[in-house]
Amino acid sequence: MQVKTIKEMNVQGKRVFVRVDFNVPLNEDRAITDDTKIRAAVPTIKYLIEHGAKLILASHLGRPKGQAVEKFSLAPAAKRLEEILGQRVVFVRDCVGEEPRKVIAKMNNGDVALLENLRFHAGEEKNDPGFVRELAALADIFVNDAFGTAHRAHASTAGIANMLPGAVGFLMEKEIEHLGKALRNPVRPFAAIVGGAKVSDKIGVLENLLDKVDTLIIGGGMANTFLRAQGYDMGNSLVEEDKVGLVKKIIEKAEEKNIKLLLPVDLTAAESISADSPYMVVSVDKVPGGWSAVDIGPESSRIFADAARDSGTIIWNGPMGVFEIASFAKGTEALAKAVGESDGISIVGGGDSVAAVKKMGVAQKISHISTGGGASLEFLEGKELPGIKALGKVAVM
Ligand code: 3PG
Repeated sequence: MQVKTIKEMNVQGKRVFVRVDFNVPLNEDRAITDDTKIRAAVPTIKYLIEHGAKLILASHLGRPKGQAVEKFSLAPAAKRLEEILGQRVVFVRDCVGEEPRKVIAKMNNGDVALLENLRFHAGEEKNDPGFVRELAALADIFVNDAFGTAHRAHASTAGIANMLPGAVGFLMEKEIEHLGKALRNPVRPFAAIVGGAKVSDKIGVLENLLDKVDTLIIGGGMANTFLRAQGYDMGNSLVEEDKVGLVKKIIEKAEEKNIKLLLPVDLTAAESISADSPYMVVSVDKVPGGWSAVDIGPESSRIFADAARDSGTIIWNGPMGVFEIASFAKGTEALAKAVGESDGISIVGGGDSVAAVKKMGVAQKISHISTGGGASLEFLEGKELPGIKALGKVAVM
């Protein structure tokens, strides 16, 4: 990797602007329900504290669209970080202007401040040059540890990298290394499990993976469009009719390249997509008229799980069914277990798949759980992520 890492920077006594991704879920009382993203940035934060930097942490939370909206305040994240670090974290009520300037001027080496939500200013998402200059003026060094936001070309991810000497933090380094190695030099057989509702969200991923994997496993709502392309009547299931032609080409390409393409052979079908709906397991050619496929069936789970267990490298992104409803989460859960049991390298990304491995108690057995949903998908598409690209060239694809 040609991007600099923090170990290559002299941070002693320097004001270091650290872009983190503290976009954590909050409940109605604004309590953090999952602090994984905060904990994931702790190794970088601790390293910088120990090496005498003045840490200026900055993040977004939610999508406040350029307005200061209290429910998107990062104050709860400052409190949680303070608990995790066992050290004071000064929460700064704005990310630019007089307030951060005053706080930063008084900082000692090893002090930590967290700025208020960057997206309270429209300049953040617009990568506005004036806003970039204001952020850059706060610091001497830029460290990007926000992998989850690396696919956004924003002021604090891309713009600022052009103004200050920059480096990636440990989380960013770990994500690039795991995902990059899987794509570049996987232990074979290399299998990918791709799920989720729509094939249109994952076309780029499928096309890129076709050049890399030995086995491609398709589940979730997007499998319906594949099954339709094979001529099945999918009843009332979500099918993207306008993508059937494209999916046929993907099937042909997989055949040409000798890639094992695994599609569901049975499904759970439900009368309606609700927790109290009647449902039953059917083979893919027997979806009742007016019913919808809501999960892969037990036979598909077994076939997919065997392929996952037998792989040298397995990448999984996207649920196998309507995971939010317990009766339709069985396929996703079975797969989570199998990925956890695989002796190969396992990489899991995307909110529902990550939730499933945690729920099944196998998170510890996964080689790498990505903190990036959208970012890990774009990485798997083979795209250069702006937040990484801005720091220099990375040899990953
Ligand atoms: C995420 O949660 O995926 C990242 O924090 C990015 O958030 P965004 O999709 O609002 O840019």
